[in-house]
Amino acid sequence: MITRGKIHHADKLPGFITVQDEKPVGLTTYDIVGGQCEIVSMNSLVEGAGIGSALIDAVKNIAREAGCKRLWLITSNDNTAALRFWQKRGFSLVAVHCNAIEQTRKIKPEIPLIGNDGIPLRDEIELEMFL
Ligand SMILES: CC(C)(COP(=O)(O)OP(=O)(O)OC[C@H]1O[C@@H](n2cnc3c(N)ncnc32)[C@H](O)[C@@H]1OP(=O)(O)O)[C@@H](O)C(=O)NCCC(=O)NCCS
Repeated sequence: MITRGKIHHADKLPGFITVQDEKPVGLTTYDIVGGQCEIVSMNSLVEGAGIGSALIDAVKNIAREAGCKRLWLITSNDNTAALRFWQKRGFSLVAVHCNAIEQTRKIKPEIPLIGNDGIPLRDEIELEMFL
């Protein structure tokens, strides 16, 4: 994962897994730096069952315990479902980093030009929540 130009090796980050019938159905990873906690990845394999919301709560708790004041994340401009998901769960849009994904493509050329719903994949959108 690359966010704000930083390369994250998601398999090296701390995170939470949701398990259902002994199978993993959700995963989130996070990165705590300088009193702020970034949610680096969030994936649910069984959508609409509260898994994503539970994973947010788990990261919120750990971030608070670590003394973080801010929880933040990056999503891409095409991920309208995620924008809805995060905003309905208390996150605010704080910045649009225009054309940031064009820069990221120089490091990770496999990022497609077109994203969800045929939307050109171009900008990083930053969302935050104060804890
Ligand atoms: C975004 C994502 C993580 C959401 O995960 P999820 O497990 O579906 O999240 P939740 O179930 O907590 O919430 C989703 C919806 O289900 C509803 N919901 C929550 N609990 C529920 C329950 N027990 N039963 C039915 N519906 C429920 C919520 O109301 C929500 O709907 P809303 O958006 O209209 O409010 C998931 O869609 C996903 O993995 N997307 C692909 C990867 C991605 O884009 N990740 C984010 C990157 S920034």
